[in-house]
Amino acid sequence: MNSIKTIAALAATLCLAVCFRQADRLVIENTENAKVQLSALLALSEEGDTLRIPSTFKDGAVEFVPEDDWVSGFFAGSLWYMYELSGDEFWADHARRHTEKLDTIQYLKWHHDVGFMISGSYGNGLRIKNTPGYKEVILNAAKSLSTRFRPGAGVLQSWNVDRGWQAERGWECPVIIDNMMNLELLFNATRISGDSTYFNIAVSHADKTLQNHFRPDASCYHVLDYDPQTGEVRQRCTAQGYADESAWARGQAWALYGYAMTYAYTGFGRYLSQAEKIAAYIMGRLPEDGVPYWDFDAPDIPDTFRDASSASIMASAFYHLYSLTRNSLYRKTADKMLVSLSSEAYLARQGTNGGFILKHSVGSLPHGNNIDVPLNYADYYFLEALLKRRRLE
Ligand code: GLY
Repeated sequence: MNSIKTIAALAATLCLAVCFRQADRLVIENTENAKVQLSALLALSEEGDTLRIPSTFKDGAVEFVPEDDWVSGFFAGSLWYMYELSGDEFWADHARRHTEKLDTIQYLKWHHDVGFMISGSYGNGLRIKNTPGYKEVILNAAKSLSTRFRPGAGVLQSWNVDRGWQAERGWECPVIIDNMMNLELLFNATRISGDSTYFNIAVSHADKTLQNHFRPDASCYHVLDYDPQTGEVRQRCTAQGYADESAWARGQAWALYGYAMTYAYTGFGRYLSQAEKIAAYIMGRLPEDGVPYWDFDAPDIPDTFRDASSASIMASAFYHLYSLTRNSLYRKTADKMLVSLSSEAYLARQGTNGGFILKHSVGSLPHGNNIDVPLNYADYYFLEALLKRRRLE
């Protein structure tokens, strides 16, 4: 009997060791690959006198964005993650340079994405290296974001309605599900300063979103338009999804990530419960390889585009949810997504794809913008998911 137990224990240990080595190999191989790809992209972005911010690769050319674009913080963020994955100071030095290029963003007030831009760059720089001066930038950015709080409605206004295509929709106070991600900046600002104003704004926004943004099946709308004085919901619709009533894949990813993160900062059970409902919805609708089509309700599935960015964001969020709940289903889902993203179908061959790591993401199909291309935020959340997987090991 004892020898049977010993053999079983040995077999279990062996199995664990094999699983560990396999998991490890996935992270190690992806780190080596990312080094090659991002080195090329970094060299290009530092060519000439000024740093440039790469966002995508189209028609044989890397495209760059200005500092006030919502995706401007992800490249610096990927460099910080490369530092964490590799331990090589080379990446930290370049991450610092690319972070500080975004110096003026702390004062940006005309859209809500200052959270994405500053958390990926300065937020990671502070967390990883405690870089002097970064706390002040984060606090200023949180102040800028807070100017968008509409107390009558209890939400942060995502977009302005006096310019661009947003001016054509008749909105008064549009709030997009993506806005959940920007709350991390506010939670961090309260941690740094001890001033609960930021925390309270974030909780109010998360509560209103929980109350109004979701359907009974836990899928979410993309855009809600509020009356900024009364908080009445004027409209529920989409901007980047297939239809008002469809489930735009990246929107579901932001919702999952956003509520897991909000629970982690607050400890309020209602947010964890919402994250788990969103997780169940997503898991019930994923295609075989775990990489969503750009909209779960796109009518031409399977003859339409996948969105690797949604899979990266979801993988990172599922690892987080696993670490909060220890429900192994979440970890398995994240693992499946990472394995698929690391396959030839999505991972670019070295020396191709303009230096971006992943292929096949969709920016905004209804706007004809960045369709089936690499995107810097797909790479950012992919690296983040690899780091989370490594930490779990
Ligand atoms: N936050 C904009 C997007 O997800 O496309």
